[in-house]
Amino acid sequence: MLALLTIFAALSTSIIAAPSSLTLFDPSGDFDYQIGGAFTPVSSVTTVSRDRADSPVKGLYNICYVNTFQSQSGSDKAWWEKNAASLLLQQNGKPYLDPDWDEYIFNTSTVANRNALAAIVKPWIDECASKGFNAIEPDNLDTYTRFKQLSKADNVAFAKILSDYAHSKNLAFGQKNTAELKQADKTAGGFDVSVHS
Ligand SMILES: *[C@@H]1O[C@H](CO)[C@@H](O)[C@H](O)[C@H]1NC(C)=O
Repeated sequence: MLALLTIFAALSTSIIAAPSSLTLFDPSGDFDYQIGGAFTPVSSVTTVSRDRADSPVKGLYNICYVNTFQSQSGSDKAWWEKNAASLLLQQNGKPYLDPDWDEYIFNTSTVANRNALAAIVKPWIDECASKGFNAIEPDNLDTYTRFKQLSKADNVAFAKILSDYAHSKNLAFGQKNTAELKQADKTAGGFDVSVHS
């Protein structure tokens, strides 16, 4: 059953590197997108992206998928409701669930919110680092394009807190979802690499 969920869109995904002192990925081979579930990559693959709950592949370049602008679907919804509901976008006094993904949306609109959210997300980055991943793929940077209560500047400011932290752990930090982002925003967010699908 789970194996069926591992169908992925690797072929339509490309990685575009930006200059950085960090290693971004291994351009000599293929890229496998395994966020739906880990499986043994074929031998041409040199870079994989996997959920932070999974483990990296020995000898390959490993990107750790972390949902840094929304809650991860499923199990952790209840955690957010109980512990950090005030950091989520609200509607009618309750956290608002993204109907497409069944995920809550992080409210990045104040410095206090961003710092409190970062305190929750940083241990996830630690988890990626201690497992031996090489880079972070922070998902859903584009929430500001889908929810008008959020702004690009605030999401980029939150990304910067996380990218600084990732860099301090020797992890590269990717940009995802927002191909239209200008170079100034990429620099402001501290992104090393872009993942487009
Ligand atoms: C976002 O958070 C701020 C600060 O707590 C709050 O004032 C604002 O109402 C929140 N916005 C939404 C849409 O939940």
